[in-house]
Amino acid sequence: MGFDTILQTIQKGGSVPFPAEANELEYARSLDAESPVQQLRDEFIFPTKRSLRSVTKKNTPNGTNGTNGLTNGLSAGDDEQVVYFCGNSLGLQPKCMRASIDAQLQAWASIGVYGHFNAAPESPLPPWQDMAAAVSTKMAPIVGAKPSEVVVMNTLTVNLQLLMASFYRPTEKRHKVILEWRPFPSDYYAIESHIRWQGLDPAKSMVEIAPDADGPGGHYISTASVLAAIDAHADEAALLLLPGLQYYSGQLFDIPTITAHARARGLVVGWDLAHAAGNVPVALHDLEVDFAVWCTYKYLNAGPGSMGGAFVHEKHGGVSFDATTKLPQFHRRLQGWYGTDKSVRFNMAKTFQPTVGAQGFQLSNPSAIDLAALNGALEVYTKTSVEELRRKSVVLTGYAQWLLDGILRDEEEKKGGEGKGEPAFTVITPRNPAERGAQLSVLLRAGLLEKVSGQFEEAGIVCDQRKPDVIRIAPVPIYNSFEDVWRCVDVLRRTVLG
Ligand SMILES: Cc1ncc(COP(=O)(O)O)c(C=O)c1O
Repeated sequence: MGFDTILQTIQKGGSVPFPAEANELEYARSLDAESPVQQLRDEFIFPTKRSLRSVTKKNTPNGTNGTNGLTNGLSAGDDEQVVYFCGNSLGLQPKCMRASIDAQLQAWASIGVYGHFNAAPESPLPPWQDMAAAVSTKMAPIVGAKPSEVVVMNTLTVNLQLLMASFYRPTEKRHKVILEWRPFPSDYYAIESHIRWQGLDPAKSMVEIAPDADGPGGHYISTASVLAAIDAHADEAALLLLPGLQYYSGQLFDIPTITAHARARGLVVGWDLAHAAGNVPVALHDLEVDFAVWCTYKYLNAGPGSMGGAFVHEKHGGVSFDATTKLPQFHRRLQGWYGTDKSVRFNMAKTFQPTVGAQGFQLSNPSAIDLAALNGALEVYTKTSVEELRRKSVVLTGYAQWLLDGILRDEEEKKGGEGKGEPAFTVITPRNPAERGAQLSVLLRAGLLEKVSGQFEEAGIVCDQRKPDVIRIAPVPIYNSFEDVWRCVDVLRRTVLG
């Protein structure tokens, strides 16, 4: 059974239809030959087992210490690329990024301060004043936005704080922020601090949606629960702020239904798309989401600590001029000189006249080198689309799930039947492909994490751990293969079944 048939069955909501021979490496390779965007793998730099030795050796069975691994215990396979399943934390380096950064360094070296308003001779990059807009334009289709609705600036948490300053407008009656029970800590801190900043009490103004009692691994929050929470607090709530895709469980929320419901009840709607941007299609403009924030170092591969993205719907980005005073009128925000329109930015006037759209929410002169890095990373996305990547992703992650199910079946058989002892792991990410992105969060039986991590390191498989017992496996469609999935699950199988 080929890639297209499997994809169509999954898209129709059928159970994942892999044939028995899918257990074989050859089958994984045949899917790679057929799957879309497989050629984009070559656009990325993979660490090798050798290059990782210096940092992982201390944990491998042959290891003596954490520093001398480059000369100790190497084998013929050490120049193999590792299986990299950590794009949900830090994406791999795109090869073309270096050229983009080099071009920026060259522009700075060759024309110095003139680079603000001039492109350097033969540089592929625009003048620094135009870089943020150019990179935002490349980013916009990834989140379903118009170019004017996107701004590349700062980092995620900073942008969340800034946009809460603009969009969280508590009144005595409507002051609550609705969030989920286990947001990424930085989001929690941002929301909590913002509520305090407004002189309010987080205990009274934060509503945390609890997981459903019967969800997988105790982490699933159904759409019905989210809608019920909105209904229960609508009269007192000012803002709904959720992750598009939950970082720990890997659950993808129903962004369209939830947004529409909250908007209909008068809430401002913001999304943290850290784990969704570049992973699943989103349609921020059409859904009339008020604002969104995301980072670019995960599925967008722009490097550790790279610049953040922010969305402000065009209905909030307008600038008009008062007929009498002639002063600019705009949505409230914290202001800085890079939010001003380019036509007046260097007039050094006291009147703040923002750029129309999301870019009017900038504060400072952005790092041209960071922008060049992001520009280089997004170059790869001009060769595909999130929709195309998603088609590969649902099959890739479905394949991982199918192989994982196989381990559990074999374990049961080995133990002599169902219900005999706790299974080696539970996948806490929803099984429904519409409710997940690339990531599968695997909750291991207590005590297994160290063994699995050790075997993964030894085999050159990189995926992250959330202590005490979760490993997150993220086959990223832009650079991971079906063979990668097979290799990873094969090591897990051998570790668990012995
Ligand atoms: C869901 C989520 N929110 C917020 C953050 C924090 O991002 P930053 O450090 O770029 O502010 C992260 C980082 O991984 C995240 O995953």
